[in-house]
Amino acid sequence: MADDQKSIYYTEGLPVPETPPPGEEPQPWEKTDVVGKPLPRVDAYERVSGTAVYPSDVVLPGMLYCAILRCPHPHARVKQVDTTAAEALPGVRAVIGPDTPEADLPWFFRDAKTALFPRTCRFEGEPVAAAAAETPYQAWDAAGAVQVDYEVMPYVADERRALESGSPRVHEGGNKLKTDTYSRGDVEKGFSEADVVLEQHYRTEAEVHTPLELHGCVANWDGDELTVWESTQGVYAVQSKIAGILGLPLSKVRVIGHYLGGGFGSKLRTSRYSIIAAVLARKTGRPVKAFVPREATYLTMGNRPPSNMTLKAGVKNDGTLTALKFSCLGTGGAYPAGGTSLVDWQIRELYLCPNVSTECTDVYINAGPARPFRAPGHPQCSWALEQMMDALAGAIKMDPVGLRLKNVPAYSQGRSGNPPYTTTGLSQCLSEGARKFGWEKARRRTAAKNPDSPIKRGVGMAASIWFVGGGGPPSTVIVKLFSDNSASLNMGASDIGTGTKTIMAMVAAEELGLEPEMIRIEHADTGTTQYATPSGGSKTVPTEAPAVRDAAIQVKRQLLKMAAEEMNLPVEDLRYRGEKIVSRSQPEKEIRITDIEGLQKRGVVMGVGHRGPNPENKTVNPFCVQFCEVEVDTNTGEMRILRFLSTNESGRVMNRLSFDSQVIGGVTMGIGLAATEMRILDTARTGKMVNRNWHDYKLPTSLDVPADIVSAPIEMPDAEANITGAKGLGEPVTIPTAAAVANAVYDATGMRILDSPINPLTLCSVLEQQNKEG
Ligand code: MOS
Repeated sequence: MADDQKSIYYTEGLPVPETPPPGEEPQPWEKTDVVGKPLPRVDAYERVSGTAVYPSDVVLPGMLYCAILRCPHPHARVKQVDTTAAEALPGVRAVIGPDTPEADLPWFFRDAKTALFPRTCRFEGEPVAAAAAETPYQAWDAAGAVQVDYEVMPYVADERRALESGSPRVHEGGNKLKTDTYSRGDVEKGFSEADVVLEQHYRTEAEVHTPLELHGCVANWDGDELTVWESTQGVYAVQSKIAGILGLPLSKVRVIGHYLGGGFGSKLRTSRYSIIAAVLARKTGRPVKAFVPREATYLTMGNRPPSNMTLKAGVKNDGTLTALKFSCLGTGGAYPAGGTSLVDWQIRELYLCPNVSTECTDVYINAGPARPFRAPGHPQCSWALEQMMDALAGAIKMDPVGLRLKNVPAYSQGRSGNPPYTTTGLSQCLSEGARKFGWEKARRRTAAKNPDSPIKRGVGMAASIWFVGGGGPPSTVIVKLFSDNSASLNMGASDIGTGTKTIMAMVAAEELGLEPEMIRIEHADTGTTQYATPSGGSKTVPTEAPAVRDAAIQVKRQLLKMAAEEMNLPVEDLRYRGEKIVSRSQPEKEIRITDIEGLQKRGVVMGVGHRGPNPENKTVNPFCVQFCEVEVDTNTGEMRILRFLSTNESGRVMNRLSFDSQVIGGVTMGIGLAATEMRILDTARTGKMVNRNWHDYKLPTSLDVPADIVSAPIEMPDAEANITGAKGLGEPVTIPTAAAVANAVYDATGMRILDSPINPLTLCSVLEQQNKEG
């Protein structure tokens, strides 16, 4: 291995192992028998058989159930909370609220009390009181028996009206949270240089988090030590939040989260129920289970915020973009919660454009706070930018794929210093994707549609970049190799359902020459596993896998050293070959791993691996391009998505099966934004969300999603990103979906649907409008 390759292979800061010998070990980007293969999940049996213990399955002896009474008004002052009647009900062991006497509360809770049970409720669903009882039903009866005296206040539930002078104020200081701006070049000059300038207004509706497993935890005290089983994307993040609020040392708070039934960003954050459960458990001396019911999930567990966007774009006839001017009005609800976070990122970054300006205004409304939602901000931005690119292509009579190919950047324009991307497969995604989808032929076919038929077909496409996806330090992983040549792997990260554990087993197995099933995984437990940042940002694999690989390399180095001593050969002469170590110069000399005396004496050889730093002055980003074909019935407004193809450049494909699953899941979620999902707030009469259940809030089902979803990864192992060559996938794959659908609907019908979702109602109203105008 040449020196320059060494620095790629073994990230800076790590000692370069004396073995493996130059050029003989698989590079991260080479095909092996393990990594890259479609391996079923290591915990597949547990998951499908129901034997996996999710936090919601945890039952402890003597456990009580918690119910939280929530404010039924979008805006109200809580004047008095009387828990006397609730406390007298059968089975009730504790009821707490803002008026609970301090003396009746655990010492640590006295400061936190008003923060958990606020005097002013700014959205429907804020906690007002909580009860713990022997059964869930008794707990709910108790919560319902709490007497609350509310002063109902006027509300504002539509962000488009929040800044009007007569609007009720969500906070004393007014309804404007902030305006963020970004600019480069001179957009007005850019527009003057353009042959075509277009401007459009877009809106995406709020999508609400409603994962299969509800949000919740079980809290249990043992003396002054608290253990919490939490449905979370990051056990260490929850640990530090709970310890901080309760004033406990981190070492006394253990958070365990072995399984998670869906997070998508909503379980990155610590919620009030965890603190409430800990308080009730302390007060009663019993374990307490607190899970948020489905209805309250819709109100309180986060959303993808609504976006009202305006985009003006200039292009030359040859396809050169000259200017992009973007503005957005958004809201994270009643508190600062990232209402417009990252909502301009595609505009800044995706296409070469010298003149860009963006302005994002975030306002308060009386609705539940937003939370990260699979690629925060990005799908909204993509909805605007990628429909605009489609319109620009039409205006200059250029192919939409060709227009994008013309504007592919090699470096980041939105980051200071304009660092180049380590790898960028955007061009390949565009051209390979178009080829595999049969784009040009399909465009010719849809262009020649029969004008007399009400059934119209169309194809559309969209591209995207995800702003993280490269991961980074810190992460520490321990790999232990036992005397029988089986191994264990210890990491703090959660497997949020994406197959993380399986990929880590594959990486360790590849390095140690073992079968993945010989590797036991300990994970997501602050009491027993290594530190890890939360699983989110599509950074889990590129963050954790390099640490796993490093730990396995450390194990190998020790075994090679032992073997060298026992074989009386120089360590440089030895090669690690799975079950044995062999001499390069004298191939007849070899030793089985299980025969290494040092290993047998010690019982275990342990390697501690770290995630090395990212390359300097470069940026690591994944790319995605998607194509789809739709059919629209212009009589009924029904739209069917017939087929979908997703090309992703996410570095090395680590497990083809979980890779494709992520693609299918991400496209499905994107179809939700495109066609089915929207939070409906009754802004005029009550301010309340009216579709707070799985019947009225339409998640895409198998009838909305095509059976024909093709995952066509661009294999481009990213040797600079990290020692496994992998970049992120989960979020990139949901970014361009909705825009691709919208563009296909345009191709089919000539109607540009600028407001999500595209459903029979919205399609018919646009059709009607078109008929009036036409
Ligand atoms: Mo993701 S929205 O970072 O879980």
